[in-house]
Parts: sequence; C-alpha cells; structure tokens
Amino acid sequence: MSDQLINAFYLGAATLFILALGGLSSNENAKRGNLYGMLGMVLAIIATVFSDAVTSYWVIVLCMIPGAIFGFIVARKVKMTQMPQLVAILHSLVGLAAVSVGYATYFDPALHFAGVEKTIHDIEVYLGIFIGAMTFSGSVIAFGKLSAMINSKPVLLPARHLINLVMFIVVVVYGFVFVGVESLDEAYAPLIIMTVIALVFGVHMVIAIGGADMPVVISMLNSYSGWAAAATGFMLSNDLLIVTGALVGSSGAILSYIMCRAMNRHFLSVIAGGFGTSSKPSGSAEEAGEVIATSVEEVAQKLSEAKKVMIVPGYGMAMAQAQRAVAEVTRILMGKGVNVHFGIHPVAGRMPGHMNVLLAEAKVPYDVVFEMDEVNDDFPNVDVTLVIGANDTVNPAALEDPGSPISGMPVLEVWRSKMVVVLKRSMATGYAGVENPLFYKENTRMLFGDAKTNMDELVKALG
Ligand code: TAP
Repeated sequence: MSDQLINAFYLGAATLFILALGGLSSNENAKRGNLYGMLGMVLAIIATVFSDAVTSYWVIVLCMIPGAIFGFIVARKVKMTQMPQLVAILHSLVGLAAVSVGYATYFDPALHFAGVEKTIHDIEVYLGIFIGAMTFSGSVIAFGKLSAMINSKPVLLPARHLINLVMFIVVVVYGFVFVGVESLDEAYAPLIIMTVIALVFGVHMVIAIGGADMPVVISMLNSYSGWAAAATGFMLSNDLLIVTGALVGSSGAILSYIMCRAMNRHFLSVIAGGFGTSSKPSGSAEEAGEVIATSVEEVAQKLSEAKKVMIVPGYGMAMAQAQRAVAEVTRILMGKGVNVHFGIHPVAGRMPGHMNVLLAEAKVPYDVVFEMDEVNDDFPNVDVTLVIGANDTVNPAALEDPGSPISGMPVLEVWRSKMVVVLKRSMATGYAGVENPLFYKENTRMLFGDAKTNMDELVKALG
C-alpha cells in the first residue's frame, strides 16, 4: 500500500474516531457513534497491516485470531455491572503494549538516531514506558478492587505522599542518566529501575483510593492509557496512534473532571486517596422526623391520580435489575395521560451513563430522560417522585449540612416535589456511607423491599 493511500486511510480513521466521540455524547446518537468508531478501527487496522512496515503476516495473523476470539467471547459474556472491571483490565493491556513497544524500539538494532533526534526519541521511550507501566499496574489493581478480588477500602501507607515524591525524583534523575548514556548496555539499568518504580507507583496510587472514587480512577486510567498510546505513536512515528491516543487521553481527562465536579471532589484529593476512611459520624438524620412506610396499592393510587411523575433511578435499580418493570410502569402511566419524566444524576450508579444504558436497554423513550440540571427546577410541579434505589444522589444533606462528607455535591432535589416515594430494602446508607434526611421528611413515603419485586407489583396494581 502506498504512503498516500495509508495517509488517506489514517485521515479517514481519525475523522471517524472524532465523529464517534461526538456520537457518544447523546443517547440518540450513541449507536451511530459506536459504528463510526468500529469503522475507523477497521480502516486503521487495514492501513497498518498492509503498510510497508509489516514484513511478515503470519505473526500478525497468529496474534489477531486469538485476540479477536477472546474479545468476542468476553464481550458476549460480560454483564453490564461488570463493565468497569472489563474497562480496567483492557486499559492494563494498553499500558503493557506501551511498555513493550518502548523496549522493542529502543533496543531495535535497525533503528539509529543521532543528536537531537536521539534525545527526542529517548525522551519518548522513557515517558512512554513510564506512563505505560504505571497504567498497567494501576489498572490491574483497579480490576482487582472492582471485581472484589482485592478489598476496596483505601490502603494508606504512612508518609505516602513522601514516598510518591521520592519515587518521582528518582524517576526524573534516572531520566537524565538514561538520555545521557552512550551505549545500549548502559541504558538497561536506568530503564529497568524506572519501570519498576512506575509499576510500584501505579499500585501505590490505586490502592490508596477508596471504592467510592474508583470510577474517577477508571476514567483517569483511561486517560493515561490514551497518553500511553500517543507515546507509542511517537515511538513508532505513527500519526494515527498519536491522534487517537490524544483523543482518548483528553476525553478521559475531561470525563474525570466532570465526575469530580458532580461528586464535588477535587481531582487532586481523589488522586491523593483516602476518601471513605473518616470515622466521623454521618449526620443526625434520625432527629429530623419519622419514617413513614407505604404500600404498593397506595403508591399505585397516588400515581394514577398524578398529572406529573418524576422517576429518579440509582444504583439499587441496577442491582435489582428493575429497569424493565420501571419501563412498563412508565408505559402504563403515559397511556393514562400522566406526564412521566426521568431525572438522571451524573454519578447515579457506579459508572458514567449507568442509568442511561439500563433505561435504553429497557426501551424507555430517550425524550423523557433528562439530566439533573434539566429537571431540578421542575420538582415543585411534580406530584409524585419515585426514587428507585437512589440514595446519595438525592440526599438533601449535600445542600443543607455543611459538615456532611458529601456537602456541596449537586443532588436531585426530589424533596421539593409534592410527594416522594423511596424504593429501597432498608434504612441502609448509600455508597458514601452517609445518613439521608430525605427518608424522614413529611412528604416522603418509604416503599421497602426489592425494587424489582415492588415495581412488578406496581405494574399489576396499575394494569
Ligand atoms: P447509592 O447512594 O449507592 O444508593 C443505592 C441504594 O440502592 C442503597 O441505599 C440501597 O439501599 C439501594 N438498593 C440496593 N439494592 C437494592 C435493591 N435490590 N432494591 C432496592 N434498593 C436497593 O446510589 P446512587 O444514588 O445511585 O449514588 C451513586 C453513588 O456512587 C454516589 O455516592 C456516587 O458518588 C458514587 N459514585 C458513582 C460514580 C459514577 S460514575 N456513577 C462515580 C463515583 C462514585 P438498601 O440497601 O436499603 O436497599
């Protein structure tokens, strides 16, 4: 394949990747976005495999076939709730690839650089291996925590910030040593020492982060894997890899920022770790009022009389797998002329877009699903709000209690509606471990039990 044709394919692939990211920004276009991404990847693979750089096909075929079979099986088997750990382990592979490419290009006897070019190439290799090794080990630990193989509690070593600082200084010093070496033999020691430190750095960074902050860490590792891919692109002088890596790197960084803002956490405090270790009592919600339990029949009656209903789902809906019953209730109410909307908090559930994915799977129409900011002012006009397995994301303490660990986090202000029905199994706290005064408010009714069982009963009572 000629260089011009390869560049044309690469340009087409890069454009499709950008269109894919654009498509993923809304539910309606997400499927199309995925298709653009897949098409872009097909173009990229064709152009790379048929470029002059490839001299023997059998190694490529030998790697691609098991890779494709493995990917196909995993994608079919993995459950929606296992997505975060799948993403984590896939990031680790990007990191490992960056480390392998770094070592391979540096010690490739066919590649000769001199003067400034050598310095630039050495810096690319050093940075690429560093980011790659850190992404690899950090992602493996993230996978372990998310799949409950490792305890999700933050592990905080004494003087951990000092340990990080010392490791960083050693890496920088060895970076200068590495760039200054005269022969390949002298390069082994600084490269290997830096790789080991980067691996330890990745482990140390992620073990210090508590379960509640893990999704931010996943998107941060996603960003790192992008930069690792971009670094690999520099090492291989592959423009498409540089562009694609930069797209993944920057979109991951933006997503981390958006999630931190939605949880009212500073990015640096997430990275510094330790959230969820405080022994501070989590508020005195019990003193605020009494808990009033309700029944499916009463809720069905209130819903039938309502003009406007808001449904606010959370992690409990995912756990109960109640989305189809929720969609059925929505359909029945809409059929009775009730105006039904959904209000989605940006961090409801355990991964970005968790609720949107489940509701789309249950075929809830996109045009009744709204973001938190779009519905928060509507609550005073809502007759009944159904809170289905959400807790932290509807906690008024975030706005009313300056001492609360979630103080300042934007929440769905469900308590401003005329009546709130909370579906959950007990009075247990949510992920942040904070008491919720919503459950004690005068206009709140608790519908205790599994969300799917209760929603199924509601379907019968309404039908
Ligand atoms: P949570 O605050 O975690 O509350 C979920 C509630 O669901 C629990 O209180 C639980 O109460 C209930 N539940 C569990 N299983 C249930 C079942 N089978 N039937 C009925 N209820 C059930 O959920 P949320 O409001 O969605 O908030 C998400 C949390 O995750 C936030 O703290 C957020 O910061 C954190 N987080 C999310 C993300 C992303 S990206 N989504 C990122 C970082 C952190 P019972 O045990 O009493 O049933």
